[in-house]
Amino acid sequence: MNKAVLAVLEGQERRPPPVWLMRQAGRYLPEYREIRQKAGDFLTLCFTPELAAEVTLQPVRRFGFDAAILFSDILVVPHALGQTVWFAEGEGPRLEPIGDRAGVARLAAQLNQDILAPVYETIRRVKAELPPHVTLLGFCGAPWTVASYMIAGRGTPDQGPARLFAYADPETFAALIDRLVEASVSYLVQQFQAGVDAVQIFDTWAGVLPLQELQRWCIEPTQRIATRVRAQVPTARIIGFPRGIGSALLRYVEDVPIDAVGLDSAVDPIFVRDQIQWRIPVQGNLDPLALVAGGAALDRAVDSILEVFSERPFIFNLGHGILPQTPIAHVERMLTRLRGT
Ligand code: CP3
Repeated sequence: MNKAVLAVLEGQERRPPPVWLMRQAGRYLPEYREIRQKAGDFLTLCFTPELAAEVTLQPVRRFGFDAAILFSDILVVPHALGQTVWFAEGEGPRLEPIGDRAGVARLAAQLNQDILAPVYETIRRVKAELPPHVTLLGFCGAPWTVASYMIAGRGTPDQGPARLFAYADPETFAALIDRLVEASVSYLVQQFQAGVDAVQIFDTWAGVLPLQELQRWCIEPTQRIATRVRAQVPTARIIGFPRGIGSALLRYVEDVPIDAVGLDSAVDPIFVRDQIQWRIPVQGNLDPLALVAGGAALDRAVDSILEVFSERPFIFNLGHGILPQTPIAHVERMLTRLRGT
């Protein structure tokens, strides 16, 4: 096995650990900004295989990361279910909000795979160009996180609209989550068929939910997705990333059949090492702001992560996406520190 990320997902240990960064293709890279400008619209970039493949490969070329992550967005799924999605320049995603049962009923029963065909084409193109030791990752958003945007129509500080909807009308909310489970299964299976080696399920907003809601809206739906993807793709490798759930990680890794779990920067590393990492490989969890800060603070943060997690299967990453203001020199410094070169 010469793909180091995949090897770790299969339970092997690598020293130094393999590394990739969430949002590694993005605005901190001048070569990304150039292509982004050329594409004009963000969704156009996601749906133009030639350009999406190019930006997927850029960070791998520049930094020699051990994985490439498909360039797309979690919100292409609501788009392919018929919801209107756009990206407001300099602000973020906007969707025609779903406010009631009728809004959920209006969604398509199944993904429009014609809309997503360019995403699969991007995967095939990247696969053809990627060095053999680099793992190709696909992804989707977890149903809760995607639903939180579908209901609010935008990012919110506390996912209040979706939480309120789920309390006020749990049946309709469950119907939305079920629709997203279906959609995510077929989306991930198609990604595997197009050639990804592994996928990550991003549950960015899992951390706002009380335990019962976490179980019902995050853990159970993600468990269904992982189980059903595995039934169709027995070799599927899956990384779960339930951001911000603290000690509930234990339930998450017990219930969801994943191959590794992504850690946010705030989780207690000793808890993870002692209670989680003996069961399952872990990935993370450098604070993206330490990477912005650089210098001795960055070195210390990298060292302490290596010290805690190096004894068992581990993939180095950030605790959340890289920030646009991150200096490239700091990414280089991090890699030098990590690889000891
Ligand atoms: O490099 C990679 O990680 C692959 C591509 C990727 C993007 N978004 C590209 C993107 C991935 C895996 C995502 C996931 C995603 N998208 C998540 C889950 C992970 C996370 O970061 O929490 C979420 C919540 C979204 C929704 C989304 N897309 C938001 C909230 C925003 C606006 C915030 C921002 O950073 O601008 C986006 C836009 C987006 N998705 C950008 C990129 C590179 C920036 C858009 C631009 O270039 O103008």
